[in-house]
Amino acid sequence: MKEISIYIHIPFCIRKCYYCDFTSFSNMNDKIPKYMKSLMVELDLYKERLRDYTIKTIFIGGGTPSAIEARYIYDLLGHLYKNFNIFKDLEVTIEVNPGTIDKEKVKIYKEAGINRVSMGVQSFNDSILKSIGRIHNKDQIYESYKLLRDEKFENINMDLMFGLPNQTLEEVLLTLEEAISLGVEHISHYSLILEEGTQFYNLEKKGKLNLPKEDKERLMYHKSTEFLVEKGYNHYEISNYALPNYECRHNLVYWELAPYLGVGLSSHSYMENMRFFNTSNILDYIEKLEGKLLPIEGEEAIDKSTEIEEYCILGIRKINGIDKEEFKKRFNVDIEAIYKDPIDKHTNRGLIIDNGKAIRLTKKGLDLSNLVEVDFLK
Ligand SMILES: C[S@@+](CC[C@H](N)C(=O)[O-])C[C@H]1O[C@@H](n2cnc3c(N)ncnc32)[C@H](O)[C@@H]1O
Ligand code: SF4
Repeated sequence: MKEISIYIHIPFCIRKCYYCDFTSFSNMNDKIPKYMKSLMVELDLYKERLRDYTIKTIFIGGGTPSAIEARYIYDLLGHLYKNFNIFKDLEVTIEVNPGTIDKEKVKIYKEAGINRVSMGVQSFNDSILKSIGRIHNKDQIYESYKLLRDEKFENINMDLMFGLPNQTLEEVLLTLEEAISLGVEHISHYSLILEEGTQFYNLEKKGKLNLPKEDKERLMYHKSTEFLVEKGYNHYEISNYALPNYECRHNLVYWELAPYLGVGLSSHSYMENMRFFNTSNILDYIEKLEGKLLPIEGEEAIDKSTEIEEYCILGIRKINGIDKEEFKKRFNVDIEAIYKDPIDKHTNRGLIIDNGKAIRLTKKGLDLSNLVEVDFLK
């Protein structure tokens, strides 16, 4: 049987953070019951199409999935288990924000089969947390973390950010140190991206955001990576680090261009040589599903050459790079036969290295990965 992963989007947040442009709202709580019902209908509409698939990972992301009542999550997962083929060793992740969980909620998550939790921490520094618009402080990170450990969650990720306004290298390393000393199994360490339409974007345009300069931001990345690797974390993707055997299986599906179905507002899917994505308008989403229609807003057929391009652009993000044998198995051709010129060019520039088994980014290449990625486009 074929394998597939499922992404479920929960677009509700308590308040919008100043840097965030994910599809999420803080003023739509009255839509929660209808939205959650729509998610079930959407899943039902895929029942036939997923008959020959086994679900290997589920990721409940947002928004803030922990901002809604836990019974919704419990019912949704129950619905999936009942109606679809499920992998025995299923990975089920939920994103939670510190300050939005309690003992009862965490217990229900456990009963719902969730076995991985991704906490949006961003920083352990109270003044930074405040300045980026987070709803929680450092103490609440500790409290929420303890609740999860008390309920025997043994696979916890923390999302952390660097390159933030007024942030110093010292603060970045102190934040990492706190996360590590708590014993988290996984760390996603993201460099701030200024997304159009966010409060930070508008402030930057007015010259009112004190961002670290590029060389300082790169230093933060290099020092953080060194520190995490020294502490036993495997750097396995540009922004991701895991203790041995705790790599996120769901995210690896994206980077290996394996099939996934996204349900919910503005979620994306890739399956059967098609890419498609849902509407980002919550009223349209609910209305479509009330009429038992899929809320798809756009789709694109992925031909062989596009599939090869995407496979390389995503695969090069992995620290182990693109496995040459895997490439040949999937596409029936050697990677060099298609990409000899860009491989030579970036090898000469010192951005990639061919170690015989795989083609991967060098340390310099990790900083300039976009230059390599564009050359995989034919
Ligand atoms: C989908 S968000 C949701 C997680 C959760 N709602 C939270 O904020 O705690 C996942 C992660 O993306 C990262 N992120 C969001 N916006 C970002 C941006 N503009 N630049 C860099 N990282 C960002 C944050 O670390 C965040 O935790
Ligand atoms: S970062 Fe997370 S909590 Fe903040 S607005 Fe975005 S999705 Fe919501």
